[in-house]
Amino acid sequence: MAELIDGKKISMDVKMAVKEEVSSLKERGVSACLAVVIVGNDPASRVYVNNKKKACELVGIESREYALAEETTEEELLGLVQKLNADPAVNGILVQLPLPKQIDEHKVIERIAPMKDVDAFHAANVGKIMIGDYDFLPCTPAGCMELLHSTGIDVCGKNAVVIGRSNIVGKPMAMLLLHENATVTICHSRTKNLKEICRNADILVAAVGRAKFVTEDMVKEGAVVIDVGMNRLENGKLCGDVDFDAVAPRCSYITPVPGGVGPMTIATLMKNTLTAAKIQNHTAE
Ligand code: GUN
Repeated sequence: MAELIDGKKISMDVKMAVKEEVSSLKERGVSACLAVVIVGNDPASRVYVNNKKKACELVGIESREYALAEETTEEELLGLVQKLNADPAVNGILVQLPLPKQIDEHKVIERIAPMKDVDAFHAANVGKIMIGDYDFLPCTPAGCMELLHSTGIDVCGKNAVVIGRSNIVGKPMAMLLLHENATVTICHSRTKNLKEICRNADILVAAVGRAKFVTEDMVKEGAVVIDVGMNRLENGKLCGDVDFDAVAPRCSYITPVPGGVGPMTIATLMKNTLTAAKIQNHTAE
């Protein structure tokens, strides 16, 4: 049976380290502030935003929420982003995705000042991640890497398979694994022989967005499985992209849902906001 990777505990360790640094920054007269923008009434987004605000409170980062109506226009949102870019008291800007359909997400992301882009979604930050010279790590992939590191396994030379090619998770995840010298394969909905490719993975990262997509026959004996999925079942329960009960007995390590990757995403966001505050106040080493 696999050992569980405890994202709740590991994320708490990260947040406590951030808290300590935030507090020593404060002693030097520097505070950190995250602006969180949410548009519309998506219930999942509301939960995520509340969790991000709670984490800010815990670590001593000021959070400012901007909750805009579902019918907000693109112009209005771009105007708010512009205002937050220009506000020296705001160090990080997070626009919760998805946005209502009248708003072009790409345009909004590109409007965020790269130095305040704590999600690392702006093309300038994505490019920096690609070349391995970045200020901000993408939150979910960085959280997954930290979970991998916690197992003590050496990523170097391992076969890593990422299922999913989103800009938020799949693509940057592959890049971070590559930076640590894994041999990386990205799979997606058009991939042929998905099962065979996955069965060859020493490290399998599932970021598909479909409940229980990864089944027992897709997992190599002894693999490390990282489940990025957060699917809401009809009974209201959260479920990952991995069929946990069937897959866990085959793995060496596996992340649970909830309590795996989710809390790590938020912990990395706290780290990034701290980094943003340090850079903007010229206190970064
Ligand atoms: N929606 C789902 N995940 C994320 C995330 O990491 N950042 C933002 N801004 N929106 C999201």
